[in-house]
Amino acid sequence: MTHTSPRQLFVTTALPYANGNFHIGHIMEYIQADIWVRAQRMAGHEVNFVCADDAHGAPIMIAAQKQGMTPEAFVANIAAGRKPYLDGFHISFDNWHSTDAPENHALAKEIYLDLKRAGLIETQSVEQFFDPAALEGKGMFLADRFIKGECPKCGAKDQYGDNCENCGAVYAPTDLKNPYSTLSGGTPVLKASEHFFFKLSDPRCVAFLEQWTQDGKLQPEVANKVKEWFSTRTNADGSTSTGLGDWDISRDAPYFGIEIPDAPGKYFYVWLDAPVGYLASLKNLLDKRGVDFNAYMKNPNLEQYHFIGKDIVTFHTLFWPAMLKFSGRKTPDNIFVHGFLTVNNGEKMSKSRGTGLDPLKYLSLGMNPEWLRYYLATKLSAKNEDIDFNAEDFMLKVNSDLVGKFINIASRAAKFIPNGKLVSTKLSEASLDLLRSVQMDDEALEYGKGLRDVMAFADTVNAAFDAAAPWKLVKEGKVDEAALIGSECMEAFKIIVTCMKPVLPALAAQAEIFLNSGELNWVNAAKPLGAGHVIGDYKHLMQRVDIKQLDALFEAPAVVETASQATPDKASSSANGAAAIEPLAPEISIDDFSKVDLRIAKIVNCEAVEGSTKLLRLTLDAGEVDASGGVKTRNVFSGIASHYKPADLIGKHTVMVANLAPRKMKFGVSEGMVLAASSADERANPGIYVLKPVAGAEPGMRIR
Ligand code: MSP
Ligand code: ZN
Repeated sequence: MTHTSPRQLFVTTALPYANGNFHIGHIMEYIQADIWVRAQRMAGHEVNFVCADDAHGAPIMIAAQKQGMTPEAFVANIAAGRKPYLDGFHISFDNWHSTDAPENHALAKEIYLDLKRAGLIETQSVEQFFDPAALEGKGMFLADRFIKGECPKCGAKDQYGDNCENCGAVYAPTDLKNPYSTLSGGTPVLKASEHFFFKLSDPRCVAFLEQWTQDGKLQPEVANKVKEWFSTRTNADGSTSTGLGDWDISRDAPYFGIEIPDAPGKYFYVWLDAPVGYLASLKNLLDKRGVDFNAYMKNPNLEQYHFIGKDIVTFHTLFWPAMLKFSGRKTPDNIFVHGFLTVNNGEKMSKSRGTGLDPLKYLSLGMNPEWLRYYLATKLSAKNEDIDFNAEDFMLKVNSDLVGKFINIASRAAKFIPNGKLVSTKLSEASLDLLRSVQMDDEALEYGKGLRDVMAFADTVNAAFDAAAPWKLVKEGKVDEAALIGSECMEAFKIIVTCMKPVLPALAAQAEIFLNSGELNWVNAAKPLGAGHVIGDYKHLMQRVDIKQLDALFEAPAVVETASQATPDKASSSANGAAAIEPLAPEISIDDFSKVDLRIAKIVNCEAVEGSTKLLRLTLDAGEVDASGGVKTRNVFSGIASHYKPADLIGKHTVMVANLAPRKMKFGVSEGMVLAASSADERANPGIYVLKPVAGAEPGMRIR
């Protein structure tokens, strides 16, 4: 596809449930989308790339309740932890919002009312599973998630109430065989209640969706899967019907969600308002920029794309396009569906069990985020096959491709370019072809193919360098000839940097400085840097993966346990009785004590401090918010590096002195202090023990 004027692109990834931190599967989705977005930006296109937390639904309500929190506070807490992941892996979202934000409440209601006006909303009394024992005996209607049983289609055990993970069948919870409540374990009872339905079976919807899903835009395997849903559907009694079924979009109180207009006690099912969150996040972004959301959406040239995993295809290829179409809105231009990521041949990570590779631990070990971006990109294609992260394969690919082939070109060539001054060269046809084809591969989500071509090209560049043997030329006094091959390789290196830029944005930025090329893009990279262009001094651009890092990454996490690590017998046996402990400080009054504001803080990030063997840099969330309502974290340096690895501490709660005057240190300002115990007699017990509250304490709680 060639476009003359900049394309207007609205791009999203699926909105993660706000019931837990990101796992590596989420990060993969963001990396896939981010590469695509960056490649578009490099073509001069205008992209708004947004996401948000999916805040609503019964699971979040129940999880919050278990922790004694309001659902609002619960999701705010999760939202507060997003930034280190997104920044850490160079995910270039323009906005992060929440489906519980006012924009989403308003938009979801508007869309619903538009659908109602179109005659596509209907109410029906529905017999639904109700667990009388849930919520401490108050009882509640069971969300699909809280009912398990056997799949009505294939008989697989322990399937959730909405769809089967084994055969992909979509059904109602009442279709399950031998159902049970996962809240109380008991057998649910049927109870009638009025429900709202979106009439997907309406001939207008069917005609539209048959066209929208089968016009060739969707990935073929996705389109084929969707086609099956038009023909058969399993009923409660196991029989099948033809055509699409209507969609139940309401849930009864208690529910954390958006109340349905003119229907007290009825809420939108979370999947009704979740995709509306795409629009809400975009609107929030445009409002901040002073751009009119409605006008932006009405632009006939606007293209809208959603990146999602293959488990949520139904929602994005049936319900969402139909909701948009029949509420008179723009429908998506495409849905890009990826497969699931597994780790070291592990089981697929489910939504709740994010196992295998902890993204924050990866970062805290000092592992380069671009290694992961590259590795995943080599495995990604336009097909939605599952992908496995294999530690050994990861190390091999990164070390041999990125360091051995790619970076190597610059480090070798630089030596033969006197004073960094390039001599006249042309860009080879092969390099220009590569630039064009990689751009097209990125557009087509064929990252793996593009990167294989890049590496094959790097091989030819290294081979040409070896064949020319500039080190020999220099010995023979042919410095100009050596400079020519050096310059040719450097021009080729620039092409590779450009091809890699969507995948390795930070490295590309460093390479642009080294090459003195300005910001590289698909267009300007096709011109040679040229004779007389002066490049900078070569500094090593990327380290190799160290196997020790991988060992540490997959080793079971150490538990910081104040009580169990402080060995009391050691302390008391160190000397004779009372003399073993430090003398007490002078007595103080309770008023003196209350001057010290001690708070529970969550260690949301922790990293080594370059240039210091003693200090760790902690990012603490003590429940504070900034002016815009976002979480305000504190930067605290602590002299505990000899006893804790950053990964040991991330995610843990501790105690912080919150009203200590900020202190300027060599490495930055420390905005507080964390509490740790240590013995006066270092030889008896050299340990430093960071305090950890008993489970249940929340960031911001005061210690009195
Ligand atoms: N909240 C819904 C999406 C609403 S979109 C309007 C949801 N959330 S999720 O947190 O469970 O998943 C978010 C995204 O992560 C989905 O696209 C899902 O497919 C993807 N992944 C979850 N686990 C994954 C892997 N193991 N591998 C790759 N992607 C995975 O669904
Ligand atoms: Zn099944």
